[in-house]
Amino acid sequence: MKISKPAALPAHPLALAGQEPFARGTKRHCYVHPDDPDLCVKVAARADEDCLRQQRWDLEDCERLRARGTDSVFERIPAITDVVDTDLGRGIVMRLYRDHDGRISRNLSGVIREHGLTPSLVRAIDGMKRWLRSERVLTRDTAPYNVVAVRSGGGWTLMIIEGWENRKYRWLASLHPFVKDRLIARQLRKFDRRVSRAAAASEAGSRSRAPP
Ligand SMILES: Nc1ncnc2c1ncn2[C@@H]1O[C@H](COP(=O)(O)OP(=O)(O)OP(=O)(O)O)[C@@H](O)[C@H]1O
Ligand SMILES: [Mg+2]
Repeated sequence: MKISKPAALPAHPLALAGQEPFARGTKRHCYVHPDDPDLCVKVAARADEDCLRQQRWDLEDCERLRARGTDSVFERIPAITDVVDTDLGRGIVMRLYRDHDGRISRNLSGVIREHGLTPSLVRAIDGMKRWLRSERVLTRDTAPYNVVAVRSGGGWTLMIIEGWENRKYRWLASLHPFVKDRLIARQLRKFDRRVSRAAAASEAGSRSRAPP
């Protein structure tokens, strides 16, 4: 009689449900990885196509960046290091950005809301823009809430946590480096307009909170 090997037991899904997410985006909930405080696990906020597509796009975008074969592109983009089963569905694992004091870094919208657009944030934004131009990364509608501001003692370093590839203009960008540079410049102007709106909203907010 042929004795078949027992089927491998499914590995335990990673337990996230008992933990509060450290952030809730519109499409994903973000958890600190239970086994590593320097990693985060993102799971779809709902089982709808929007949320699942974002998870898929992050994975595809990361693969395309990895295919460049240069590590420098991950200096300001968190590489996805794993895809795991969790008790909240499939999760993608990436580096969790923390400030120099160990606190989880906040997104640029939150930092501008609290501090306004300070000179050191302006310098950090210029640094991120220079980096995107030199790495020649054409992002997809990067908004300040998709940029994480890491506080490093004296200043900030900005990391891009989503929208790493611009699908709409990928083909056009592939035609000639000059075309790609123009498209990157246009994305960066769009980003600047969003930052200006966030700064204006922060100023309006602090005026309305100020005593008469
Ligand atoms: N790697 C990370 N390190 C630190 N904070 C992060 C990281 N990834 C996400 N965050 C925080 O979690 C928030 C939500 O993450 P993310 O943008 O991936 O979710 P989403 O649901 O896809 O976003 P959106 O609200 O833009 O649709 C971010 O705005 C940021 O504050
Ligand atoms: Mg986001």
